[in-house]
Amino acid sequence: MIDFSLSDEQLALKDMVRKFVQAEIIPNAHRYDASGEFPHEIIRKAWENGLMNPAVPEKFGGLGFGITEDVIMNEELGAGCLGMTTSIAVNTLGLYPILIGGTDEQIKHWITPFLNEPKLAAFCLTEPGAGSDAGSLSCHAKDEGSHFVLNGSKMWITNAGHSELFTVFATTNKELRSKGTVCLVVPAKAPGVSLGKHEDKMGQRCSDTRAITFENVKVPKENMIGQIGDGFKIALKTLDKTRTPIAAGAVGAARAAMEYAIKYSKERKQFNQPISNFQGIQFMLADMATKIEAGRLLCYQAAWALDKGQMKVGSYYASLAKRFSADMAMEVATDAVQIYGGYGYTKEYPVEKIMRDVKLVQIYEGTSQIQRVVIARHLLED
Ligand code: CAA
Repeated sequence: MIDFSLSDEQLALKDMVRKFVQAEIIPNAHRYDASGEFPHEIIRKAWENGLMNPAVPEKFGGLGFGITEDVIMNEELGAGCLGMTTSIAVNTLGLYPILIGGTDEQIKHWITPFLNEPKLAAFCLTEPGAGSDAGSLSCHAKDEGSHFVLNGSKMWITNAGHSELFTVFATTNKELRSKGTVCLVVPAKAPGVSLGKHEDKMGQRCSDTRAITFENVKVPKENMIGQIGDGFKIALKTLDKTRTPIAAGAVGAARAAMEYAIKYSKERKQFNQPISNFQGIQFMLADMATKIEAGRLLCYQAAWALDKGQMKVGSYYASLAKRFSADMAMEVATDAVQIYGGYGYTKEYPVEKIMRDVKLVQIYEGTSQIQRVVIARHLLED
């Protein structure tokens, strides 16, 4: 049996997040975009409304939400502001490695403070020389018996400047590639940790993106998640769970772009009539709607598989959802700017921000090209 309806609880969640977006995010999104200031206040309110850390299981005091609920939430947040969505959602990315690979004691120790206060965590995989090729890490964790000594740099780390802790992926032996990797929990205040400047980005300008440098940082062995050699797999299992909600954020942004374009096309008159009367505009809107529905369905399909614990097929659908929704949102936002014409190209109107914001979804959490690599490997596997 196939059922496309959401449960009453899921509908209530969607409604609650939508109201939060209308009250807190939309009125502030353009101000934060212009200043590039970090949205502390919005994040605090998101935490108070239960919008952060949704994946923490109930047995550890969390909401125990599945990927499906994360998708529902992120579509609504994405319709408000993708920069704020990233700032809110990436906390889950930072904590997932502990939830996936940690012992019960580690989960309680590291994650409970995030349920008690609006704290942030950051996922530290990417390096200046290791982006798409995430197995080629250079950040080195030297095993010194009771602890590791961490040296190296991370790059493009979201929320780095405002996080309490980092889940850091490092190599104990670069020659072993992914098999030499380790996942370490590093408090942001640990001696030897230093932060780079806030990157001045094209879009998602209020989300905090920085480099982090580790210089002889002593990390106790009890901060290791899993074993030496598990790091890369913990990172990819994490991304399998977060790529779909990120895709849903893009679906939300595309939906907002379409809704703005519909409204504008009914108001804007040319040749003595609203431009929505013209088939050229109608076809653009129809294509937007078709692509948005398809992206949403892929997100739900990936979430369904992942929530059922079907990790292999879930990984495949997550890449389909991320690849399609990121590229789709870029197309929809570009067409929304086109419908607005010259006005759409200015900061007076909302669609140019969406176009700048969605561009990043084609890049972070695995580029659209890396998603194709994952998809093709699944197709060609014996
Ligand atoms: N789950 C678990 N294990 C997996 C896996 C998965 N999804 N995919 C691969 N593995 C395992 C493999 O089975 C293999 O295990 P064995 O050694 O035991 O056989 C091991 O991992 C190595 O796999 P590959 O040989 O396939 O690895 P690869 O080097 O070819 O890389 C890749 C694969 C898909 C290209 C990967 O490197 C990748 O996803 N790259 C993109 C990185 C990325 O998404 N970065 C985003 C950073 S986070 C971010 O952007 C957040 C933000 O700020 C918003």
